[in-house]
Amino acid sequence: MRHFVIVGILILVVASLTYIGLDAAELLPTQASAEAISIDWLLNLNAIAISFLFALILVPLFYSLIVFRRKKGDTSEGEHMVGNTKLEITWTVIPLIVVVIFAYLGTYSLAEISRVNPQALEIKVLAQQFSFSFEYPAFGIKSKDFYVPVNKQFVLKMESRDVIHSFWVPEFRVKQDIVPGRVTELRITPILLTPPGEPYRVVCAELCGASHAYMFSSVHVVSQEDFDEWVAELQNIAAATDQTPEGRGEALSAQNGCLGCHSIDGSQSIAPTWFKLFGSSVELTDGTTANADEEYLAESILLPGEKIVAGYETTLMPSMEQLNEDQIADIIAYIKTLK
Ligand code: CUA
Repeated sequence: MRHFVIVGILILVVASLTYIGLDAAELLPTQASAEAISIDWLLNLNAIAISFLFALILVPLFYSLIVFRRKKGDTSEGEHMVGNTKLEITWTVIPLIVVVIFAYLGTYSLAEISRVNPQALEIKVLAQQFSFSFEYPAFGIKSKDFYVPVNKQFVLKMESRDVIHSFWVPEFRVKQDIVPGRVTELRITPILLTPPGEPYRVVCAELCGASHAYMFSSVHVVSQEDFDEWVAELQNIAAATDQTPEGRGEALSAQNGCLGCHSIDGSQSIAPTWFKLFGSSVELTDGTTANADEEYLAESILLPGEKIVAGYETTLMPSMEQLNEDQIADIIAYIKTLK
């Protein structure tokens, strides 16, 4: 009996210490959505259960190893035991009840985080190797960055142009795959404004190719006023740039995901920069050089695998065959302005 009391107390102590340690490690990022509250609560319950089970297994093990160690010179046989029905029923029934409780809580939480708000803001997400782009049908705008108003549910309608990707903002906790040929949905209610200077990031959480690790966009949770302002600004820019080839080219580059891989300021990225690209001579993988004129750029947009720039062998760009001739000319006009 004395051993049971000691082991019981030790289990409680070790379980508490394990849980305190897990909690202090702060393994989760900021809690920025209503869904995160429900999910973190469930995860916390799991951490408590895990800490207890950890102690329940390890404490009796080490206690037995130390306290019941065979004494020197003791060569007698150990006690012979054949099962214990009461004990077996107990260790079957208790875990069964715990699992059923967790199943209920998990279902409850899932229902909670997928509750539909009919007024949710609809945002279309287009994923492709290796960028996300966003469209706000209610406002007629498209963007490379992700802006949403705080305290308002939004629903993502997500499509992929090529392979399976996955939409994940760690601060929002929830995650959803984006599967070619299907429209998948995700509902999120952001509850915290993005701290200035360091926007959250939506990252692709499904290995989708060589540059999967570089597939992300910035996420800005802003006040309703700031959101309206951002929408108006984009609408103005869209109206103004629609008049010139360069303007249309810039918009097309953002909408088609080009700017997810090609920088426009000369900074190093997963694809050659567009800065000072036009008219430059480009080194290719076969050792030859090409002059970056209209013809070369148009060919590279449609047949990216034909002439690969040295150093970029591993990042394969998808063909932009959805663009027509005029649109390609617009994009080239835009590239020309980057000098
Ligand atoms: Cu897209 Cu990984």
